[in-house]
Amino acid sequence: MLALDDVHTHYGKSHILHGVSLQVGRGEVVGLLGRNGVGKSTTLKTIMGLVRPSRGRIVFEGREVVGLAAHRLAHLGIAWVPEDRRIFRLLTVMENLRTGLDRPGVAEERKREMLEKVYAHFPVLAERRSQAGGTLSGGEQQMLAIARAMMLEPKIILLDEPTEGLMPRMVAQIREIIELLHGDGVAILLVEQNVPLTLEASDRIYIMEKGVVRHQASAAALRSDHTVIHQYLGV
Ligand SMILES: Nc1ncnc2c1ncn2[C@@H]1O[C@H](COP(=O)(O)OP(=O)(O)O)[C@@H](O)[C@H]1O
Ligand SMILES: [Mg+2]
Repeated sequence: MLALDDVHTHYGKSHILHGVSLQVGRGEVVGLLGRNGVGKSTTLKTIMGLVRPSRGRIVFEGREVVGLAAHRLAHLGIAWVPEDRRIFRLLTVMENLRTGLDRPGVAEERKREMLEKVYAHFPVLAERRSQAGGTLSGGEQQMLAIARAMMLEPKIILLDEPTEGLMPRMVAQIREIIELLHGDGVAILLVEQNVPLTLEASDRIYIMEKGVVRHQASAAALRSDHTVIHQYLGV
């Protein structure tokens, strides 16, 4: 469904991605692991068009998406939850969710259904629906960011370190949300530092080093033989 082929990205003169190639199949959860600074976030930003690749192709459902505006990507079914979450701190939880819903072609009835579905899955967001986003805890804000992405009814969600800085209980909840999305057939490209969670939640794994993918394997293979993880990630 999503394929990156030999993607090179520069920030000014710094050459950051040196030919990243990876694929995500329909409904597949794919983990992208790697030490700090290897280019994981840059890979997601390049997919989202925040930075334009200097070389290579990015194809989604058979069409080249390099150069498309963010709202076009959203319309095609690609959602992104960045590391810094970017929820609207002064808007209420409900208003934050509505920013994902207020787009052409979504009937009021459908909007209500989608809000109800999200509130059923995230009781804490239902409880806090009238509270300003900025008053939520870090974990709750992460949930809100993911829930808002779900409002776009995406085919794939790019998640950038969703569990970073969260308490174990919240990490477990994020894990459940990933399962839920997986069960709903939504594909996920999951960037994480939490190796055990990524190995458990993913179907397949790519490991990056210095701007390239160095290794790929099924998550099951990496779970049963830890030497590869140890070699590349030192854990
Ligand atoms: N806006 C930017 N301008 C210049 N260099 C950047 C920028 N963002 C990230 N970098 C550099 O690009 C490299 C990869 O960063 P990043 O993709 O954020 O890595 P990761 O997500 O794997 O930790 C790092 O060396 C980082 O310092
Ligand atoms: Mg990053």
